[in-house]
Amino acid sequence: MDEEALSGGNVTPVVRIGGTVRRETGPWTPAVHRLLELCERAGIAGTPRPLGIDEQGREILTHLPGVVLAETRAEVLWSRAVLHAAALLLRRIHDASLPLAREASARRPQDWRAAVHEPVEVICHNDFAPYNLLASGDALTGVIDFDFASPGPRIWDVAYLAYRLAPLAEDAAAFDARRDGSPDERIADLVAAYGGTWPVEQVRSTAAARLDELAAFTRERAAATRRTDLAAHADMYRRDARRLRS
Ligand SMILES: Nc1ncnc2c1ncn2[C@@H]1O[C@H](COP(=O)(O)OP(=O)(O)O)[C@@H](O)[C@H]1O
Ligand SMILES: [Mg+2]
Repeated sequence: MDEEALSGGNVTPVVRIGGTVRRETGPWTPAVHRLLELCERAGIAGTPRPLGIDEQGREILTHLPGVVLAETRAEVLWSRAVLHAAALLLRRIHDASLPLAREASARRPQDWRAAVHEPVEVICHNDFAPYNLLASGDALTGVIDFDFASPGPRIWDVAYLAYRLAPLAEDAAAFDARRDGSPDERIADLVAAYGGTWPVEQVRSTAAARLDELAAFTRERAAATRRTDLAAHADMYRRDARRLRS
């Protein structure tokens, strides 16, 4: 069957073959597939199903319908319905991950691509943001790109989602606080929809810590690949982290 290259991502070459996608694997793949299996068992429809490894050593995942949320109309991207649905989907994935997060063996750093963050409560997605969320029409339908998942506290993912969807980021295109509500009000809404009790201030300070780590990671990748766009991203993360702390 034909291979179709999927663009949009920044990290992994992804191809589509029929109803599946194929992506490169790594030491993190078995743990990520266990997480995806737990999501499936919990009845979550919006996560890819792991179907094993193909003859070229690539992971096989189901291709999910929809378009990347970051590329949808501003009225959809910044809608309260999408904010609530994203919070709820994240909550369901976190809850589904509990058995894996509770296993001592799952906390071995070498099993994951990203760092383990204490206190470990769940398996965090670590990149739960509009460019990895899918939408159909004006509804949120799923999330992809679990490669960087790792054990951590719930708020670690909630804070990064807030950074991208409240939003707290400098590069939030076409966000209009008059139409969409203030970022702080939206953080409170997101936390409530998740079922959390964190004050807005704690979400902001956790987002700043998350951005410090992301800036360091992105700077390293910019140096390794000599990509100036990545260097610019790293600079933005640093500026945003500083602004969140001021
Ligand atoms: N399971 C999937 N279902 C549908 N589309 C997918 C799936 N996985 C990847 N894609 C598409 O491929 C693009 C890149 O994939 P992603 O897993 O996000 O890789 P990256 O690590 O490069 O961000 C996505 O933006 C999306 O358009
Ligand atoms: Mg991606």
